[in-house]
Amino acid sequence: MKRLKIALIPGDGIGKEVLQEGVKVLKTIDKIDNNLFFEFEEFPWGCDYYVKNGKMMDDNGLEQLKDFDAIYLGAVGHPSVPDHVSLWDLLLKIRKGFDQYVNLREITLLNQSLTPLKDKSEKNIDFLVIRENSEGEYAGVGEWMNKGTPEEVVLQTSVFSRKGTERIIRYAFEEARRQKKSLTSISKGNALNYSMVFWDQVFNEISQEYPDVKTYSYLVDAASMYFIKEPERFEIVVTTNLFGDILTDLGAAITGGLGLAAGANINPERQFPPMFEPIHGSAPDIAGKGIANPLAAIWSVAQMMEYFHEGNWKDYIIESIRVLLKEGRYLTRDLGGKSLTTETGDRLIEILTQMVTENKSK
Ligand code: IPM
Ligand code: MN
Repeated sequence: MKRLKIALIPGDGIGKEVLQEGVKVLKTIDKIDNNLFFEFEEFPWGCDYYVKNGKMMDDNGLEQLKDFDAIYLGAVGHPSVPDHVSLWDLLLKIRKGFDQYVNLREITLLNQSLTPLKDKSEKNIDFLVIRENSEGEYAGVGEWMNKGTPEEVVLQTSVFSRKGTERIIRYAFEEARRQKKSLTSISKGNALNYSMVFWDQVFNEISQEYPDVKTYSYLVDAASMYFIKEPERFEIVVTTNLFGDILTDLGAAITGGLGLAAGANINPERQFPPMFEPIHGSAPDIAGKGIANPLAAIWSVAQMMEYFHEGNWKDYIIESIRVLLKEGRYLTRDLGGKSLTTETGDRLIEILTQMVTENKSK
């Protein structure tokens, strides 16, 4: 029997609402599966916490989290705290502090009706973006000189270390080999004449060790165009922190929007706990109304199951989302429906429960 300790950080805005639905899914799994047992502990960190305590999380927050098997996060951000403060002191602090250098974002179209792309269907849009998650453009290195004067100069330095670049690219090659898929590197060596030339070089070097993996290398501008025009080109993608951030919102846009987009932040060596999250953010404009789409948060539970080597549960969850989208009766507003967050969550659980019990009785 696996006992798994999950740290819940609902955070801000709709984060609280959608996380609740994900937790319901985890509790359903716990109930059905005699081998899995989840324990939850909730942490009140976020912008409200900042307003009361002057900080986003406890000073020893990482220490408190480090023995959990996973962190499940809702969203961070509220107009009461500048975004760069709230995010650097909570979300990015966890990603970096726990060396979660791999960010996995699945770009999978589950129902043709969800894509704005004409003539594209499920078989055309099904790939995985592996985003570098610990350095690059998000290194947080820079300087703000002569602030407020006409001589003002601001530097924001990207950092691409040999170790950091090799490990993410190697991870991507391993994944491509395991899945027997092609690997596409997305960079920008023509303009970024240090960092991206280096990235391309490392990609080439490592590709020599994986002669079985077919590779492609695109500039990020061209890749953005192909995301729209020929998404079927992509199977596994590896890219930098910022490019990955931007491209995965684009990926969300072609698969149903941010209401469905999830991300897994992983330390592959498993020295630190992973973190799973919907990537839509806190959406203060619709917070508290109970209308947010819980499917992204639920998709991140699927990713959590995969991390725990419970691939069957992952498949069941994704297939349940597929059925829910297809029947179309319990969709939230972002998907053109009228359902509340909780109604969509409840329906998903019904579908999941039925699917699993039917399969067991076979
Ligand atoms: C994401 C988000 C974050 C990022 C922000 C909130 C710092 O956009 O997870 O994609 O840029 O990584
Ligand atoms: Mn983003």
